[in-house]
Amino acid sequence: MKATNQKDLWLVSNIIENKNYNFSKSEILKFLPEKLIDEAIKSISSWNSYSPTPLVRLDKLSSILGLKEIYYKDESKRFTLKSFKALGGAFAVEKVANGRKNITVATATAGNHGRSVAWGAQKLGLNCKIFISEYVSESRADAIREFGANVVRVKGNYDNSLKECIAQSQKNNWEIVQDTAWSGYELIPQYIMAGYTIMMKEIFDQINNDVISHVFLQAGVGGMAGAMIAGIAKFSNSIPKIIIVEPEDADCVLKSIKNNEPTRIKVEKESIMGGMSCGEVSKVAWNILKLSTNYCVTIPDTMVARVSSLLANKNFSKNKIEAGECATPGIIALKGICFNQELKNKIKLNKNSKVLVFGCEGATDEKMYNKLLKLGSNTK
Ligand SMILES: Cc1ncc(COP(=O)(O)O)c(C=O)c1O
Repeated sequence: MKATNQKDLWLVSNIIENKNYNFSKSEILKFLPEKLIDEAIKSISSWNSYSPTPLVRLDKLSSILGLKEIYYKDESKRFTLKSFKALGGAFAVEKVANGRKNITVATATAGNHGRSVAWGAQKLGLNCKIFISEYVSESRADAIREFGANVVRVKGNYDNSLKECIAQSQKNNWEIVQDTAWSGYELIPQYIMAGYTIMMKEIFDQINNDVISHVFLQAGVGGMAGAMIAGIAKFSNSIPKIIIVEPEDADCVLKSIKNNEPTRIKVEKESIMGGMSCGEVSKVAWNILKLSTNYCVTIPDTMVARVSSLLANKNFSKNKIEAGECATPGIIALKGICFNQELKNKIKLNKNSKVLVFGCEGATDEKMYNKLLKLGSNTK
């Protein structure tokens, strides 16, 4: 029997180049204004217990892949919420409340964003309603309730939970704090993205403004990716290659880039990377992504558990890293590309490359994380 080649296991499902790439700092910062980024950074850095999350060098992985450096932004250490989502929702709640106490904030969520909104509401003593679909685990629901929010479970998928959130909020005069934008609803998603940008500020401080050659950004609705690109436009002197990574069954950014217009897709199979299982790109994010994305890559779910387990077992770095499912896509896409010499050359990944990936979450769902570790230790 033929032995399995490691390289056969690390594959990307699809990859396309953006034919309309036209990176323009000023154009990007029109959609996420610098004044708002400055305000978000000032506010978040004044929060109790704020400190930058670590930027870890995956030195074992960079030597396997023949790259100069792989930086991993470890969001498992973000406050007690263990995900970058803590930054956006809570900042937006602050902005929306604007000193008011007698309001209710509401959102639909795959988990982490709802926790952030609930946390922000609790800090300000506001009422909070969080809508979740039938696919969100009960441990994620409990984690939201921990911050005093009322959790409303909705039959069907994320889109159904969003529809229900909008309908009930309109009826009851609640303030929707949603992390995706659509026509006529752009300001609050902008606040949320502004909150995320503090990650990029921290990163450029952590590397002393050194050059990054490639950035892998995972996308659900693209808010995090768009925000990181705005952060690059604001804080970086050079422009890295930008690679968007999505689950193969939720490739709304890839389809939109391919068609050069926002393209809604039907998610037929929910990805294990629940926070990224989205069918439609956020409008604010799209305005940024369409100009600045170099490549879109999709990945299967097959290596998610394996990467969580490899990170936990110090296979990529000196110290153990706690990485939930949405923390793995950057590494999966990077390995998939590097194990295919033609793709590696095309994207210009080589011994001089300094790559940045985002470990977006830690064990935000303990049960799921333990399952990943178990499953991952049994995968090749
Ligand atoms: C938990 C979680 N939710 C959602 C996302 C996607 O963010 P966005 O929907 O802003 O693209 C990520 C990104 O990795 C994530 O880790």
